[in-house]
Amino acid sequence: MGEKIVELRSVSKAFHGRKVLDGVDLVLEKGQTLVIIGCSGIGKSVTLKHIVGLMEPDEGQVLVFGRPMSGVSEREKNRLRLRMGMVFQSGALFDFLTVEENVAFALREKYALPEDEVRRRVKEALELVGLPDAGEKMPSELSGGMRKRVAVARALVYEPELMLYDEPTAGLDPIRAKAMDELVLKLKSQGKSAIVVTHDLHSAFKIGDRICMLHEGRFIIDGGPDEVRNSDDPVVKRFISAFYD
Ligand SMILES: Nc1ncnc2c1ncn2[C@@H]1O[C@H](COP(=O)(O)OP(=O)(O)OP(=O)(O)O)[C@@H](O)[C@H]1O
Ligand SMILES: [Mg+2]
Repeated sequence: MGEKIVELRSVSKAFHGRKVLDGVDLVLEKGQTLVIIGCSGIGKSVTLKHIVGLMEPDEGQVLVFGRPMSGVSEREKNRLRLRMGMVFQSGALFDFLTVEENVAFALREKYALPEDEVRRRVKEALELVGLPDAGEKMPSELSGGMRKRVAVARALVYEPELMLYDEPTAGLDPIRAKAMDELVLKLKSQGKSAIVVTHDLHSAFKIGDRICMLHEGRFIIDGGPDEVRNSDDPVVKRFISAFYD
């Protein structure tokens, strides 16, 4: 087995007495792209939030780059977060800052990187997502798809070893969705590891080395695209056939 980039060990999490994650185990190895699928409200975003340390498990442990991300100080979490980029489902841009300021925000405010380094990284990230000239725009001037790509750029400025994407192709037209898949594959070819949450099974089967389906608090399948596509599990089958019907 390769180096473990992310590891969830028996992670459980409940909200208002309802268990969303119920003893989840998951390992992401270096260089892999792992796709998480599953119904709405099942806990996919909650899983990602545990990996970036925005949520603490009720039970179990979260390790990132072999180090604990749960039960540690915010300072320790920030050290690990510098090595990862997260694209939030909502995009979560600051409406009062330009695109350039949004993308640069954490590097400037939180990590105080030198300004020429910040500018270089922002320029590269905006080029990678196909928005080289959008820096001066305000988020309100952007389409939903452009906001999404700015959110990806904001994750890329960390030059992360690990990317976490929460529905990166949602709301994108087919051409931009394809470009997003290609970006994920390009980063993979550079040796980066990734976890992608998506409802888009076309994309899942294209980019995923492994596809995991979350259901009733656990991953009920974890396998390569063909294994998942041909699964006999009735829940998996129903989910996949609903997409293609
Ligand atoms: N901060 C929170 N407080 C209370 N409940 C929460 C919180 N975050 C998530 N939940 C609940 O946990 C469950 C799983 O939410 P989650 O956002 O992970 O779903 P999801 O699988 O990402 O769904 P979708 O595909 O719609 O994005 C939902 O029932 C949600 O209401
Ligand atoms: Mg979600």
